[in-house]
Amino acid sequence: MQHTRFMPSWPWLPGLLFSLCSTLAPAAVLELDPATEARPAIAWTTERLAAHPEAQEIQIPNDVSYRRPMQYRAVPLAVVLADLGLQRTDTLEAVALDGFVAQLPGALLLPTRAGAPRPWLAFEPPDAAWPALPGKTASAGPFYLVWPDARGIRSEQWPYALARLGSKASPGARWPQINVAASVPAGDPRRQGQAVFMAQCLVCHKINGGGESTLGPDLNQPMSPVAYFQPQALRRLIRNPAQVRTWPGQAMPGFAPDQISDTELDQLLAYLGHMAQDGARQGRLPAAR
Ligand code: HEC
Repeated sequence: MQHTRFMPSWPWLPGLLFSLCSTLAPAAVLELDPATEARPAIAWTTERLAAHPEAQEIQIPNDVSYRRPMQYRAVPLAVVLADLGLQRTDTLEAVALDGFVAQLPGALLLPTRAGAPRPWLAFEPPDAAWPALPGKTASAGPFYLVWPDARGIRSEQWPYALARLGSKASPGARWPQINVAASVPAGDPRRQGQAVFMAQCLVCHKINGGGESTLGPDLNQPMSPVAYFQPQALRRLIRNPAQVRTWPGQAMPGFAPDQISDTELDQLLAYLGHMAQDGARQGRLPAAR
């Protein structure tokens, strides 16, 4: 009988190893980075969230990251935003463990309209780990921003594996080089394209050096993708990167029409095209060599 060889001669060993591992496992911490020095930087742990009176079990009918219905322990995000002192005019910067950085408008997170979608902060209980995300080895934990009602919420507005939340100025104020030229009228496709870019692309890509994430390349420096992709190929790449080129480490997600409509895709390309010209004209880009 082969397996008798593997009978432990110290029956207490697995128990000891288990308790060692659980003591060594770092407690999950979500750091809060307030806008002003007047407010102390604080941190929420899974334990503190679990003990919060507003913590409850919530249902997510259409989980963007798991692509199926999910159930979580969660608190209303507003609980944590209050600690952060975040106002509707501020931007919440949500930094993930993998370098993804979402910039979420305060007005979206703290809606005043009755019945508007409201975000929750789900936390992964240490004794009930979440499954791995589709195609990944890690779960969406330890902290994940979710929307029970996701009407009008974009796919990149569900940041997961959160490590830090900060209260910041809007991306356009922080990084003026990401803005369309002031002469571009309100409602212009190029301006609307910038809004799509800020919600769906800035989370991984900088543009003209503006932005916080370096997961993907800068999309205007040193060269804009509109300069080396045929428009049709660029559209395809945004819809499904693997249709243009593919390799094992490929990391960019595709965007289906329910996340970026055909019209918005045109607006996005108009924005990128404008930045390619405008960046050069305004001396925002290094001169071409
Ligand atoms: C979750 C992160 C992520 C998001 C969101 C994302 N990208 Fe990417 N993107 C990447 C990464 C990483 C690469 C590098 C190739 C790869 O690993 O897939 C890339 C590559 C690209 C490229 C190809 C650049 C080249 O020269 O090959 C383009 C163009 C691009 N992204 C545009 C966009 C646009 C436009 C959006 C928004 C609609 C977007 N990306 C959203 C991560 C992302």
